[in-house]
Amino acid sequence: MARHLITSALPYINGIKHLGNLVGSQLPADLYARYLRARGHEVMFICATDEHGTPAELAAAKTGEPVAEYCARMHGEQAELARGFGLSFDHYGRSSSPRNHVLTQHLAGKLAENGFIREVSEKQVYSNADGRFLPDRYIEGTCPNCGYDKARGDQCENCTKQLDPTDLIDPRSAISGSTDLEVRETKHLYLRQSALKGEIAAWIDSKTDWPILTTSIAKKWLNDGDGLQDRGITRDLSWGVPVKRGTEDWPGMEGKVFYVWFDAPIEYIAATAEWADANGRGEADWRSWWRTDEGADDVTYTQFMGKDNVPFHTLSFPATMIGSGEPWKMVDYIKSFNYLTYDGGQFSTSQGRGVFMDHALEILPADYWRWWLLSHAPESGDSEFTWENFQQSVNKDLADVLGNFVSRITKFCRSKFGEVIPEGGEWGEVEQQLIADLNTRIAAYDAAMARTDVRKSAHELRAIWVLGNEYLQAAAPWSTFKTDPEKAAMQVRLGLNLIRMYAVLSQPFIPFAADSMLSAMQTDLRDWPQDAGAALTALPAGHAFTVPEVLFAKISDESREEWAERFKGVRA
Ligand code: MF3
Ligand code: ZN
Repeated sequence: MARHLITSALPYINGIKHLGNLVGSQLPADLYARYLRARGHEVMFICATDEHGTPAELAAAKTGEPVAEYCARMHGEQAELARGFGLSFDHYGRSSSPRNHVLTQHLAGKLAENGFIREVSEKQVYSNADGRFLPDRYIEGTCPNCGYDKARGDQCENCTKQLDPTDLIDPRSAISGSTDLEVRETKHLYLRQSALKGEIAAWIDSKTDWPILTTSIAKKWLNDGDGLQDRGITRDLSWGVPVKRGTEDWPGMEGKVFYVWFDAPIEYIAATAEWADANGRGEADWRSWWRTDEGADDVTYTQFMGKDNVPFHTLSFPATMIGSGEPWKMVDYIKSFNYLTYDGGQFSTSQGRGVFMDHALEILPADYWRWWLLSHAPESGDSEFTWENFQQSVNKDLADVLGNFVSRITKFCRSKFGEVIPEGGEWGEVEQQLIADLNTRIAAYDAAMARTDVRKSAHELRAIWVLGNEYLQAAAPWSTFKTDPEKAAMQVRLGLNLIRMYAVLSQPFIPFAADSMLSAMQTDLRDWPQDAGAALTALPAGHAFTVPEVLFAKISDESREEWAERFKGVRA
């Protein structure tokens, strides 16, 4: 048994997330957490809402709520949707928590003590029309790197380059659209990332097993010259973590807050402390996950995120951790994802284009989405959601392959033997072959899951389901029954045991259906199969079961068309 710390990139608070956001971090992180727990490991799975910065202020301004109220409300909504999707966080925290304030201020103090912070008097964009400074997303313009004309002051969404507001060409206010901007002097703190370049480069070089997507982005930003420039870590905003040096005031920094990307990853740690607070655990409990001098040296830490988040997790956050000079647990493996597109374009909140988490659950149960999203995770490149593909995948994989298997075997048993596992007969060659095939496939599934190879895992799981269907087709207990009822009983007993084993193996992907399957089989035996032969004798003759409700309903062409129309967005 090992100890696994798992974090998903923290979703921004500024609205309900779409399916692309979900599959880019939280959902695959959940798959991995569920898998490791099922294998008997100790897991701490952490997520939180990322609540500071201009995105939160702008979103609150739109609804007219005070920003703190807006964040509290949206945190509640996101937490509810996370539950709806079966995301099994040990804690879903908030980056605005008191824990994060204290820890962020503490780390900034340590960085200053170690000489990694410099105070800079710098030029910032001031909007005369808005009467305020325009940090980050308050300003938009053309990216100096790729020419994208809607780049934001903090990052270009198109080429992922991290930017400063003054880098933008033809800048305009995101609040009023005004171009009546001027540059004024103000004082800010900079994290001296450049002074940590050697250590960070050595650390990245030591990670030889990282996925190519992660390493290539990390190295690009590290070596492109400007990747590890010193970064401004404070902002002229009122919502955020007030700038302090530990518990002391920071002269000259009154009224300023830390930059959202400085405090957000620190919330991974703070949320674990929030977990301890919420569960009556002590300081030592959460610190054993995060301090290598207090027990975390045996922890394996895996992060999940979209590719635009990689620079912050491979360069900026490690700079904070290393520069603090304290023995914080550093990430061992970063699993990153490309983008999910929607029907030939992008998901768009403003245009209502694509499926968002709330609407998804309104129209279909979570498992339908979980299965499609995970089996089409954008791992080696972007992947595209289309309604045809979704319909096909649900109808074939879930309804025809898995659902049909469960329904045929349980109904056949009920009609011939009653709702109890029948007795008699012995495994023959066909059964031994099935077991050998299952063992091979389960080993491949295990290996893919352990590597967080998401699509490959889905592929192997589906192949395991198919083996059951093929067996049932070949064994044909409905014909066997006419000539050899004992043999038919053995075939049915095996089939019913397969349902339980499928529930256990499928649980990380489709936890709700897995629960229905286990409750139909009237068991809570969830041991991960070490050997299919042993697993398929877990439910003995005489054990009662019930025929479950339809596990997965097929998606009709009419529904598909209706949904395609409903979610196409204003401009489609
Ligand atoms: N909120 C960011 C995004 O959606 C992710 C923050 S991850 C964190 O892109 F760790 F830094 F919080
Ligand atoms: Zn760009």
